[in-house]
Amino acid sequence: MRDPLLTGYRALIRPVLFGMGGGDPEVAHEQALRMLQATTATAAGRAALRLLHPGGDPVRIGSLRFDNRVGLAAGLDKRAEVVRGWSSLGFGHVELGTVTPQPQPGNPRPRVFRLPASGAVINRMGFPSGGAEQMARRLDALGVRRGNRAVGTTIGISIGKNKQTPLEAAVEDYLTCFRQLAPHADYIAVNVSSPNTPGLRELQNADALTRLLGELTSAARQADPGDPLPILVKLAPDLTRPAVEQLLAACEHSGISGLIAGNTTTGRDGLAASDLAKAVEAGGLSGHPLTRRAREVLGWITSASDWPVIGVGGIMTPADARAMFDAGARLVQLYTGWIYSGPALVNGINRLRPGR
Ligand SMILES: Cc1cc2nc3c(=O)[nH]c(=O)nc-3n(C[C@H](O)[C@H](O)[C@H](O)COP(=O)(O)O)c2cc1C
Repeated sequence: MRDPLLTGYRALIRPVLFGMGGGDPEVAHEQALRMLQATTATAAGRAALRLLHPGGDPVRIGSLRFDNRVGLAAGLDKRAEVVRGWSSLGFGHVELGTVTPQPQPGNPRPRVFRLPASGAVINRMGFPSGGAEQMARRLDALGVRRGNRAVGTTIGISIGKNKQTPLEAAVEDYLTCFRQLAPHADYIAVNVSSPNTPGLRELQNADALTRLLGELTSAARQADPGDPLPILVKLAPDLTRPAVEQLLAACEHSGISGLIAGNTTTGRDGLAASDLAKAVEAGGLSGHPLTRRAREVLGWITSASDWPVIGVGGIMTPADARAMFDAGARLVQLYTGWIYSGPALVNGINRLRPGR
């Protein structure tokens, strides 16, 4: 059966959104965020949108409660600009950021490219960030505190390192972000998997990861010994199976609460012929070409461990989400699927029932 919201988005809204920004997807994205921000700034606006996006069944992961199984992936609301709006679009959680300790501009533009025939995006944003302090101030002004659900949804904050920080000093960058933002987050996502910050993925090596997670979980225990803030780690989909298994061993006694699998890929498989010219752009590929790979990596984790895992990568249809749940994902997150299919995709996933 055709979904009128999906048909409407694809026929009417998407062409307008894709036409905005003079052909630069990032400018279009910024304009679309501003529109969303304005629409969801009032309680009436949010209530009207909520009628169209009723949400789904709640889920618990340890002490964390989610209104439903679909979240907004990191990178879409990098600077916490639409925080109040996401729950009225049907999302059960949102991962803000990735935020760096100090403000930084990211890579030169253009740095985001749509590959429409492939249902994909390539980006090399490189963590443009207003800095941890700016995000803390924004969340504070909205009254967002751990566990208080002030904006009606669960808030994760993805943290990273500044480009200029040498890898040997990266732990301090993550700790700075953690200290500034922990009071405003329901969980922290440790991003060691973006391909656009030189050297960042080396933090996925077992020794480096053990040290980083050890410092962060001990900061979380110090801040709240009775109920440390949950920490999740986001992995790259380009890891080999042995590397994933080593990494799981490194996580075993780390005190983290779960994993997110995964980020964009540096691979270029699965592109339509008409998009091959854009395949040469440096950066991480997301969307449809990533669907199978992301699910495979998630399956390696769920078959080798009991970690709760959030599945993200190439979820373009409710059937893709269903397959991710079948592979063991507890929750899913969307980025590129939301760009191509809009809020109807969130509704479609929320309508899935176990076994259907
Ligand atoms: C333009 C863009 C920016 C992104 N920025 C971030 C980021 O800052 N931090 C992060 O962890 N992931 C970031 N991602 C990766 C997404 O969160 C997600 O892991 C990836 O795109 C795969 O999911 P998808 O196929 O649904 O897009 C970004 C993705 C895109 C397309």
